[in-house]
Amino acid sequence: MSLLNNLIVSSLPIIPKPIVGFVAGRYIAGAQFDDAARVTKNLNAQRIMATMDLLGEDVFDHSEAATAKDAYKEILRSIHREHLDSNLSLKLTQIGLKLDKSFCEQNLREILLVAKDKKNFIRIDMEDHTCTDTTLDLYKSVRRDFENAGVAIQAYLRRSQADVLELVKQRANFRLCKGIYIEPEAIAFKGREEIRNNFLSLLRIMLDRGAYVGVATHDDVLIDASCRIIAERKLSPDKYEFQMLLGVREKLRLKLRENGHRVRVYVPFGRQWYPYSVRRLKENPAIAGYALKTLFSKDSVN
Ligand code: FDA
Repeated sequence: MSLLNNLIVSSLPIIPKPIVGFVAGRYIAGAQFDDAARVTKNLNAQRIMATMDLLGEDVFDHSEAATAKDAYKEILRSIHREHLDSNLSLKLTQIGLKLDKSFCEQNLREILLVAKDKKNFIRIDMEDHTCTDTTLDLYKSVRRDFENAGVAIQAYLRRSQADVLELVKQRANFRLCKGIYIEPEAIAFKGREEIRNNFLSLLRIMLDRGAYVGVATHDDVLIDASCRIIAERKLSPDKYEFQMLLGVREKLRLKLRENGHRVRVYVPFGRQWYPYSVRRLKENPAIAGYALKTLFSKDSVN
């Protein structure tokens, strides 16, 4: 499969944009807030929560970062106005992390203030390893003042256990995921089983220290093991949630919901959908395989 994935990715420049759009359309709500609102309403009707993400990252211009910050504030107001059950996920490099850390923190604090006013929550996505230290520093700083902030942790990073042990001291709110970027072996586990083992050992640490966890995976092995870990601890459903990406394993998320777990779906939207889709495909060619599978079979929606 990896040969095929790589072939698809290397053909991307000659694949017409509408075809990339067709494939990406499954994973992205659309270009506008109204598209994300429509998708969220459908999810909410199935008693599934959302986390909206305005596509964009790696901003190197102050005014562009400020525009993204204002857009996030407006999205929070719109979520409130439309009574949507959705919080927000954002990438710090979209609001200036790579430009100036204190400018980025100021932007994040402004967004968090609006979120607090609207009784909403901001999840900070985790980007590639060049951003891990600055992202966690910034999270620790805002966490002192904001209960409504959470951060993502990547199970493939060898450092994550130490990070989590530090973060639980501040009663951090976590999203636990495997990690999507291609990272060097020196800092990241590469084997499927070692990533899974680390995922589960991080989950145990988080839950045993009383942290709220968003268990973000579509992997059956991890979902089954997470359910067992949750059941052993007799956790009530308000202590954790499962999280999945839009367009992935829709039947599974309904099954989790039917079994009494809370489920949240990541709803990306925005005009940046094309560069975002192309970059994601290049970063992780396996997604090309999933997308192809989606086109030709019903397996990935089970
Ligand atoms: P795995 O990749 O083994 O997938 C299990 C199965 O799910 C596959 O066999 C396939 O059937 C299906 N599947 C998975 N991905 C699919 C796709 N795109 N299309 C179709 N089918 C698919 N990463 C990160 O580095 N920083 C972050 O902040 C986040 N945030 C985040 C939020 C949420 C809500 C989720 C679900 C995921 C993330 N991720 C992330 C991505 C995460 O790290 C990881 O790369 C993906 O979830 C894929 O890993 P799985 O655990 O799903 O397992």
